[in-house]
Amino acid sequence: RRVAILISGGGSNMLALLDSMRGDHPARPCLVLSNEPDAAGLVHASQRGVPIAAVDHRPFAGDRAAFEAALMRPLEAANPDIICLAGFMRVLTPGFVTHWQGRMLNIHPSLLPKYRGLHTHTRALAAGDSEHGCTVHQVTGALDDGPILGQARVPVLEQDTAQTLTARVLEQEHRLYPAVLKRFVQGNRAPLYLK
Ligand code: GRF
Repeated sequence: RRVAILISGGGSNMLALLDSMRGDHPARPCLVLSNEPDAAGLVHASQRGVPIAAVDHRPFAGDRAAFEAALMRPLEAANPDIICLAGFMRVLTPGFVTHWQGRMLNIHPSLLPKYRGLHTHTRALAAGDSEHGCTVHQVTGALDDGPILGQARVPVLEQDTAQTLTARVLEQEHRLYPAVLKRFVQGNRAPLYLK
């Protein structure tokens, strides 16, 4: 199975996914695509021999459909079976999501349905939560919604800052996303709750 990964920045989740798709894993990466032409993740993907492409969203300012039509060109050329959003920071229109419905995953740094949207770690700290974590879900038209495919939890510690909590969650993201992708490729849709 062919997996395309969409990124906007460093792509640490993308790297974890690339490193997992080896040996007898049923999937291989076919494209890493970024809306940021100078995303560091593109260099790392290219160094691993994965095809890369960039479509800068800025020239399409405000015209999401036109930007997504431009995204479709490298995507259709790569012909993925599955799309993984990994630190991809552009909101996708319902039209794009519908086209890829059931074949597009996202990782979000909270225990959904809590804290959809941005600044999730700051919000969890402000709420005094004792637990936080990350979720992999199927992408639907609603932001950070869609059927949950997996979650991983971390404790929130007294001395935590947004930075320390982010780092602890990111470690779990790098475990969760590859595990969920492998199950998804194998047709297993049962949610995975990592210990
Ligand atoms: C991570 O918090 C991820 O959950 C969110 O984007 C952040 C950066 O991810 N989707 P990455 O390091 O670019 O993979």
